[in-house]
Amino acid sequence: MSIRAFRGALLHCLRDPGEHSDADAIEYFDDGILLVDDGYIVATGAAASLLPTLGDDVEQIDLSDRLIVPGFIDCHIHYPQTDVVAAYGTQLLDWLNTYTFPAEAAFADAALAAQTAEFFVDQLLANGTTTALVFATVHPGSVDALFTVAQRYNLRLAAGKVLMDRHCPENLRDTAQSGYDDSRALIERWHKTDRLHYAITPRFAVTSSPEQLDLAGRLAAEYPDTLIHTHVAENHDEVRWVGELFPEARSYLGVYADAGLMRERAVFAHGIHLDDTDHQCLASHDAALAFCPTSNLFLGSGLFDYRRTREAGVRVGLGTDIGGGTSFSQLRSVSEAYKILQLQQQSLPAMRGLYLATLAGAEALHMDDKLGNFLPGKEADFVALDLQSTPLLARRMRVAKSVDDALFANLILADERAIVSTWVMGECCYECAPAR
Ligand code: GUN
Ligand code: ZN
Repeated sequence: MSIRAFRGALLHCLRDPGEHSDADAIEYFDDGILLVDDGYIVATGAAASLLPTLGDDVEQIDLSDRLIVPGFIDCHIHYPQTDVVAAYGTQLLDWLNTYTFPAEAAFADAALAAQTAEFFVDQLLANGTTTALVFATVHPGSVDALFTVAQRYNLRLAAGKVLMDRHCPENLRDTAQSGYDDSRALIERWHKTDRLHYAITPRFAVTSSPEQLDLAGRLAAEYPDTLIHTHVAENHDEVRWVGELFPEARSYLGVYADAGLMRERAVFAHGIHLDDTDHQCLASHDAALAFCPTSNLFLGSGLFDYRRTREAGVRVGLGTDIGGGTSFSQLRSVSEAYKILQLQQQSLPAMRGLYLATLAGAEALHMDDKLGNFLPGKEADFVALDLQSTPLLARRMRVAKSVDDALFANLILADERAIVSTWVMGECCYECAPAR
């Protein structure tokens, strides 16, 4: 099949730069070649050494003047909340009742679901995001709508039907049994079809009865390679309410552990208000947290302690949490993550920011055998970035002292305007419109 050589500056992470020296964690080629055979990476290296080895049948694609990085991975996002992004004035529980539940109720309409899924996937790709772990709504058809679009783009994407049988409007409720049955049918229909993954998706402990959580745990045991996707310990009022609803649980996270929802491929969004025992529990089960900076700031939820979770050995991916979060861009997420760490006397160097948006997400989703960097055998999902996408960045780049400095300024200042093109399995899925 087709062999393609993409030529440009190449940058990717081999491991966490926060835990290893840059020499061990980062690979950079100023003039590099990414060699892709039928969608899979076969080699990465300097153009000077790789170009002479290429046969005549290799198609060369010129991305010089661009920085090629792995596609961004969004570990927590809600596609049905696309239209309630930037809704004024409330914190989590009021925000759900005022804006989110009414918006999600409208997804009983299959046409709305299909049209929103289309727009949503366009936004992911325009922002350089090639993989996401996505909440749908309680309606099974909302999952069909999203997977249908993702399948057409050949995306590696995970999603699931929300499980929610109490403390929400009547028209958004399933039952413990119907939630189990509908999830099971969706797993059978979609899980591991092409590049799609099913995620068992109880919304959070507030909106699921103990019976529903137990059945979700049963499903998780029956299908051990599905993901589990939920929220935990995001907001003080929420944590207090869960304590009242589950007085026998050791902690909020303990509610999920008791229900059999603690295992590898479990991804818990937020996890701001956890203790050391919770962190040990996550680490020992190889479960993950999704750090959602723009959401945590916008909803006033709190400051995620990145250093503490990583020192406890917890996998941490990055999420936008649209529509609690305010941008589809993982560049914006890294920028806000930097500031959240600054407020806690922590630091987020540029290369670790890149790691958070790429390889860390692959590790959190247990997809790092396929995604996250440019090692041979991985799937060729990547982004071509323009480091001078605005007049301010063009000026800033004139005085950039190093790749590190150029990347840092872009992580802080850039947004979707920096995304020149987005590639999925070596095929172009998004190209920005040429400047007028
Ligand atoms: N907790 C339960 N549901 C939600 C949601 O939709 N968004 C966020 N940010 N937190 C939640
Ligand atoms: Zn969320």
